[in-house]
Amino acid sequence: MTKELKILAIDTSCDDTSVAVTCGYNVLSNVISSQIRYHKKFGGVVPFLAKRLHQEKIDSVIELALSRAGLKWSDIEALAVTVGPGLAPALEIGVEKSKLLSAEFGLPIYAINHMEGHISSCLAQVGKKNRPELIYPALSVLVSGGHTEFIYMPEFGKYELIGATLDDALGEAYDKVSKMLNLGYPGGKIVSKMALEGDPSVYELPIPMRYSKDYNISYSGLKNAVRLLIESIKGDGDNLTLREMQDLSANFENVAHEGLLIKIRKIIRDFEVRTIMLGGGVSANVSLRKKLRSLSIKNDLLFVCPANLKLCTDNAGMIGVAAWVAILRGKKPTVASLVDRKPGLDWNDEI
Ligand code: KG4
Ligand code: ZN
Repeated sequence: MTKELKILAIDTSCDDTSVAVTCGYNVLSNVISSQIRYHKKFGGVVPFLAKRLHQEKIDSVIELALSRAGLKWSDIEALAVTVGPGLAPALEIGVEKSKLLSAEFGLPIYAINHMEGHISSCLAQVGKKNRPELIYPALSVLVSGGHTEFIYMPEFGKYELIGATLDDALGEAYDKVSKMLNLGYPGGKIVSKMALEGDPSVYELPIPMRYSKDYNISYSGLKNAVRLLIESIKGDGDNLTLREMQDLSANFENVAHEGLLIKIRKIIRDFEVRTIMLGGGVSANVSLRKKLRSLSIKNDLLFVCPANLKLCTDNAGMIGVAAWVAILRGKKPTVASLVDRKPGLDWNDEI
């Protein structure tokens, strides 16, 4: 058996400065410094503000990750860094920092795909919880603020994109609904909390892509339907009441999930998948987890999702685990001078 490596992993792909220490599949520390409060007033992430904030925070986040893991630099055996996809100015900070650390401590660098990190988050072990043994082929459902993708995996490390959103990502749809209801950013957590108290049958929003024959999804039509519904409820009046917001959120969440589930059922049938893996920021959604778990039970499939909420949204723990899974498959470190940010990195692009 390969000796488990102690890896210091960095992710600065968007608006979280995150550094983790992992050992094999184990996440020893996973520090996330969120920039949300700075971007909030702009209603979304401002790339150059993100870069400056990553620059300010990265050193203290690294120190904290090391001390929370109870380790020193001399214990670390490798570095892992997200090279893409993500915001170019934000990625640059993590990439450049990994090169400096590599030179200072003589450590190899593993360049990691952020999306492969989200898939690997399902395998991350925290505390004594056992890591699931995947059964192949697996379907990875990646739902975040920037992605909604169905990835077919005949084995780990082989990825076939079989469907994706044609426009907005699921997390983005949550964020936009939240904005329309003046509930703040990022909206997933807020809207799903509202939905818990609401009645999904009061309104009748459309289920996205219900009748389309392919494996793609679309959320922009639903977003427009929500906008029109808000206008019609408001009429000449002021804002929506709390009850109206709760019912609308419940209906939105229900149809947004149903659109996704229709495609997942179709993929299960057509591709005979044996495992469903849920990853990305929206995998923090308890209701979506429940629906996928019961769908999996019904179809005799294995269902896996990240072990805790920190591993759902952007974090470096998943990058350390992705590096470990890749090393087990034979991945070699990248020569430090060649490690570079790749904002538009795609599935199966060489890195
Ligand atoms: O993976 P992530 O942290 O960043 C991206 O790479 O996009 O995902 C962030 C997204 C946001 O759109 C946020 O609203 C959504 O995940 N999100 C949720 C929940 N928690 C975060 N959406 C639905 N329900 C949640 N509980
Ligand atoms: Zn992400």
